[in-house]
Amino acid sequence: MTLPKINPTATKAWSELASHFEASKEKQVKDLFLQDHKRAAKFAIEWKDFYVDFSKNRITDETLSLLLQLADEVHLKEAINNYYEGEKINQTESRAVLHTALRAKKGDTIFVDGVNVVPEVYGVKEHVKVFSEAIISGEKTGFTGKAFTDVVNIGIGGSDIGPAMVTESLKFYKNHLKLHFVSNVDGDHVNEVLKELNAETTLFVVVSKTFTTQETLSNATTIKEWFLKYASQKDIAAHFAAVSTNTEKIEEFGIVQENVFPMWDWVGGRFSLWSAVGLSIALAVGYENFDELLAGANEMDVHFKEADFKENIPVILALLSVWYNNFYGAETEAIIPYTQYLGRFSAYLQQGIMESNGKSVDREGNEIPYQTGTIIWGEPGTNSQHAFFQLIHQGTKVIPTDFIGFKHSLHGNKDHHNKLMANFFAQTEALMNGKTKAEVVAELKSNGLEQGVIAKLASFKVFEGNKPTNTILIEKLTPKTLGALIAMYEHKIFVQGIIWNIFSFDQWGVELGKQLAKNTLKDIENSDIGNHDSSTMTLLQKFKN
Ligand code: F6P
Repeated sequence: MTLPKINPTATKAWSELASHFEASKEKQVKDLFLQDHKRAAKFAIEWKDFYVDFSKNRITDETLSLLLQLADEVHLKEAINNYYEGEKINQTESRAVLHTALRAKKGDTIFVDGVNVVPEVYGVKEHVKVFSEAIISGEKTGFTGKAFTDVVNIGIGGSDIGPAMVTESLKFYKNHLKLHFVSNVDGDHVNEVLKELNAETTLFVVVSKTFTTQETLSNATTIKEWFLKYASQKDIAAHFAAVSTNTEKIEEFGIVQENVFPMWDWVGGRFSLWSAVGLSIALAVGYENFDELLAGANEMDVHFKEADFKENIPVILALLSVWYNNFYGAETEAIIPYTQYLGRFSAYLQQGIMESNGKSVDREGNEIPYQTGTIIWGEPGTNSQHAFFQLIHQGTKVIPTDFIGFKHSLHGNKDHHNKLMANFFAQTEALMNGKTKAEVVAELKSNGLEQGVIAKLASFKVFEGNKPTNTILIEKLTPKTLGALIAMYEHKIFVQGIIWNIFSFDQWGVELGKQLAKNTLKDIENSDIGNHDSSTMTLLQKFKN
């Protein structure tokens, strides 16, 4: 069984949503609150440590019921079952999509090609546990017998940004090991990192699902050469580990078998932090915290699989996103965490969401006449308020925004946290309410401004309002809640892909870039430049001269 192939625009719900949009698009959310005193409670989901308020959206009961009808008409339930049961839903690569299996409970059974993969997953988890604990405790040492102080994760894309984002997000829970991430093929990146390292006390983890990625192999080779200036070939055994599906290539690189962590082709790069790709996370925050991260994701997996769609957080968030993307013509979505710890969260989701749903052919291979993947961006609040919030408040575009905040800060500084959260709540309220011209005039009058000045200024100070937001309020940033939060967005991606009738789990657009760069490199390194357009030809000549 693969995924259903249903054109969403041909469903009854879609045409009803289109008429409903025309009839309701001028409605003001603030008025909807006045008309329905139960709105806040009605459009909110309370689940474990999460409170998701989606009431400040341009929706009514009818909108929600039509969106839920759309989910039914595209057979979302059946698709979720196929996803969780290891069907090869990544059809263009003939692979199952089972990051959910990486955080399954020990006794669960999940079959791929007739084999229960859960025991294998637990085997690798045990290896991660034993290895990371031996490094953290100092039981495993470097070639001169000194304990490790630094760890370098060498990878790119999903083999970098997931562990990098989680490690930064869980900085509060970190141990003494200093983590570094080398990803870019830009030699200045690796050289800047190397400047900080001592070969005797640094562990290198080469992470590449394919072990063929140009960036990762170049960086790993440069690092190995640097290491061998201080140590001998045999010392590689103590200082290099690898995570990959390609065991043959790892052996060629010289990494010893006991430091090799396998992964599987049913784990997509951008969903792989839960696998041994998360070894750097386990090294940074300890295995128990890594396991908690997985447990949180598993709880969200169960919620997504079992909760009724109208109480289902990823389903509701995805439906709202479709509503804005396909009916309001919103092109982007902002994700604003109100914690500095989640500084890389939006960048991480850019890969997860845009690499998955940036597609323009449907599951039958036909060109799509409607909009798919949204553009994702964001930065932590309150910094982002002083950067791009102007455009969200007073620009011409509809930008649905997720506000993610925590009830408790980690260091417990109440004064700061109250100020932070005051901004968090005030922003969504202001984005919804806006400020009318009459309000602006009254305010300027009460500030003592003259009539003439008020007339000149007023229109610039008007806020249209009616800007849609979701508020995701979580108890506290812990490994568990972070795991659930990431999984929440992963499942949102899935639901959107199902509705848009696209394959979310391949990335042919990125593969193209990999091939092109190889050919152009030959043109740079060889004396002759091959065939190019005149612009590229001139640029290459200028670079080579
Ligand atoms: O960026 C494209 C991509 O294919 C990602 O999906 C993947 O995470 C990344 O490249 C790195 O690939 P690998 O882990 O095979 O080195």
